[in-house]
Order: sequence, then structure tokens, then C-alpha cells
Amino acid sequence: MRLGEAPASETLDAAERMSTDELRTLQLTRLQWTLKHAYDNVPHYRTAFDEAGVHPSDCQALSDIAKFPTTTKADLRANYPFGMFAVPQAEVRRVHASSGTTGKPTVVGYTAGDIENWAGLIARSIRAAGGRPGMKVHNAYGYGLFTGGLGAHYGIEKLGATAIPISGGMTPRQVQLIQDFAPQVIMLTPSYMLTILDEFERIGVDPRSTSLQVGIFGAEPWTEQMRTEIEDRTDMHAVDIYGLSEVMGPGVAQECVETKDGLHIWEDHFLPEVIDPLDGRPLADGEEGELVFTSLTKQALPIIRYRTRDLTRLLPGTARPSMRRMQKITGRSDDMIILRGVNLFPTQVEEIVLRTAGLAPHFQLVLTAEGRMDALAVRVEARHDTPADRRDAAASEVVRRIKDTIGVSVTCEIVDPDTLERSVGKLQRLKDLRER
Ligand code: DLL
Repeated sequence: MRLGEAPASETLDAAERMSTDELRTLQLTRLQWTLKHAYDNVPHYRTAFDEAGVHPSDCQALSDIAKFPTTTKADLRANYPFGMFAVPQAEVRRVHASSGTTGKPTVVGYTAGDIENWAGLIARSIRAAGGRPGMKVHNAYGYGLFTGGLGAHYGIEKLGATAIPISGGMTPRQVQLIQDFAPQVIMLTPSYMLTILDEFERIGVDPRSTSLQVGIFGAEPWTEQMRTEIEDRTDMHAVDIYGLSEVMGPGVAQECVETKDGLHIWEDHFLPEVIDPLDGRPLADGEEGELVFTSLTKQALPIIRYRTRDLTRLLPGTARPSMRRMQKITGRSDDMIILRGVNLFPTQVEEIVLRTAGLAPHFQLVLTAEGRMDALAVRVEARHDTPADRRDAAASEVVRRIKDTIGVSVTCEIVDPDTLERSVGKLQRLKDLRER
């Protein structure tokens, strides 16, 4: 793997240079403040803590967090729209909301101080990714209620870089402006990057010839194989950014370009835990489970032990030694397909598709009910230069590799290039055609 250059240590934030002891002390003070702030100002937390028989004063060590109840998306929905806010509405400078494809959206809010902290964490994240003051940043995350666009925007400005606020969509124009404005950094979902790369190829421009040096990809799961695909086609560094609206938005954790070994969690603002998704038991660092976050500085929407449904493990810090890393997300428990008793994640299929010669990184998973059994069809595009007689062999390889590594039988259909739906933001890979 090609690695990038670390930022000069004097340009790091004070928290990035803290010793582990200093960081843990800071976290405990901030955790105690957060628990009290939530209990005093949010009826939901007061009731939930009282029912669990815990009080903010019971938190005397970081491990005491496990005594407190977890929070879920359902709690935010039940308090729609502003019931989880801990400050008067007049102090809320901005709201964002999840797309809410099912049910009510979840609404989140920020004070001026929250927005300032968020911008600082995005600036820190872009710097960790290899961006520097004075660079131009093409920001193709969607602007609007989604946290991606505006969240990244304020951090780009805070870093002292130039924001190009293009948002998502109008792909030919994205390609034109990348050539004309010559940005060094691009921020967008990895699936939308693929759409943009196809457009470069359609107009006959080599994406390796652009000014881009770093791509900061997040908002959806993506694999090491996808990193290789994007880096090979663009000749830039591809690094991972993670976040979620309930906890802040993008910039909760960021991969460092000099190590590309998972994402450092900005632990001065967020306390991570990993729990067993079935019984909620806290797991030790290194064990895989569901990621849970408690905010440490948020004023408008303090969040206590939020269950992200994202699956990962916590690892020791490397490029920022005192901050723990999270391994690249394998998937969300929501995206897990249970096929005839076997668990399967779209990222596992992505790995296999990208390892198979002749196949493009565009695929779709179609789930149908055949009699009483569910069936999964993998539809993958051939690459433009794939010979017609390679298709059958590629399909058989995908079927065999899925059987060997995941342990379940699927069918695979290779379709013509440029026929599957393209993403302009978060891509939904699964088409579930089963009758409910
Ligand atoms: O997607 C925030 C964001 C914007 C992150 C831009 C990064 C870049 P939500 O719409 O609330 O917020 O969705 C959050 O997206 O729980 C994960 O399941 C998924 N997700 C976000 N980043 C990553 C990532 C934004 N790097 C949900 N890898 C999260 C895998 C990710 N999944």
C-alpha cells in the first residue's frame, strides 16, 4: 500500500498529542459533565436513568459508563422533533435530519459551540487525510439536511482551505470543475466517486491526470479492495472518514494517510465502546461487536451510549498513539442479509467481485422468495474491455468464492457495462423483492 505524509507534529491539535493518561482524565471530566447535562435538561434521560437506578454522580471512572442505559434511534424518533435537545431552542443554531426512508426522520441540533467543535474535528480529519491549509477541496457530499455537505464545509474553511461546495449530482459538471478548478482534495461517498470515474472515462480523460491528491470517503461501508480500485484509477490516496448524525455527523473518526490502518476516533469528543449486539454486554478492545458512542462535549444534543448498529472492533492507536482506532466498518447490522440461516454483508460480496478479473465495481444484490426459500442473485457489470467469453467464467468464480468464503449458494449474472443504477450519494446495494 502506498502511504502518505504525516502532518508536522506542531500542526496537530493539543488533544492529538496528549498522553493516554491526560486524555483519559479529560474524558472523565467531560463524561461527568455530559451525564449531568443530559440528566438535568432532557426528560428522556432523566426518566431512563431513574428507571435504571443510576445517577450522574455514580460515574467515578470511565468504565462506569456501562451502568447507564443505551440510547437508540427509536428513542430519538419517540422524541421527534426536538425532545432530545438539552438547550432552549433559541440557542440552537442549526438542525440536521436523517433521510428517514422509513418512519419519522431523526432530528439533531447544534449550538454555536457545537458547530465550532464540529468544524475543528473536520479540519483535524482533513489534515489527518493529507489535506493542508491553502488547498482546494471539492466537496461533493450532499448539502442540506444530510450532515455530510455542510459538516465538511465548515471544517474545510476552518482548516484554512478553499471550499468548493458542489454538493452531489450533475456528474458531468463535477468532472468539468475538477479539471477547471484543480482541487487537491475531494470529499464524497466512495460509490459516487465510482460514478465520477466512469464519467471521466466516458469523455476520454484519464482520471490519473487530474490535480487530485487525496480522496476522503465515507457515509457508507467500503472495502480495502475498493481502496485499491480507486487509488489505481486515480493515482490519489483514498482514506476513510466515519460519522453519524446522531453523534455529530462526519468527523467522529478518521483514517490517517500515513498509516491507512483503520480510523482514529477523536476521543477527546467521543467515548467509544463495543458491545455484544444481542445482549448489550460490553466487549473488550479487539473484540468485534456493535459500536456505541457517548458524546463528551455536545451541548444541544448530548448523546449517551448511542447504539450505532455499526459492526467493528476497537484497536490501539498508531499514528495518534493515545486515541484508539476502529477497524474499517464491515457493515451495519441493518444491512446484514440472512440467507437460509447464513449471515452475509454486501461488503463481503464487494471484496469478491473486485478480486475477480473482468468485473467492474458495480454490483447489485437482488433478494427474492422462491417458494419457502430466499434466493440471492448477484448482478455485476462486466468491465468495458472484458471479452464476451470471460463472462461465464467470472460468474462461476463469484458463485464459487461466495460459497467457499461465506458458505451460501447464490446465483450470479454478469450484465453489460453501464447498465446498473449509479449512486450520487449513499448507494443502496440490496433490492429486496420478497413479499412482506
Ligand atoms: O453518513 C455522516 C457522514 C457524512 C459520514 C459524510 C462520513 C462522511 P448518517 O447519514 O447519519 O451520517 O449515516 C450514518 O452511515 O452509522 C454508518 O452506518 C454509515 N457510515 C458513515 N461513515 C461510514 C464509513 C453520515 N466511513 C451511518 N464506513 C453510520 C462505513 C459509514 N459506514
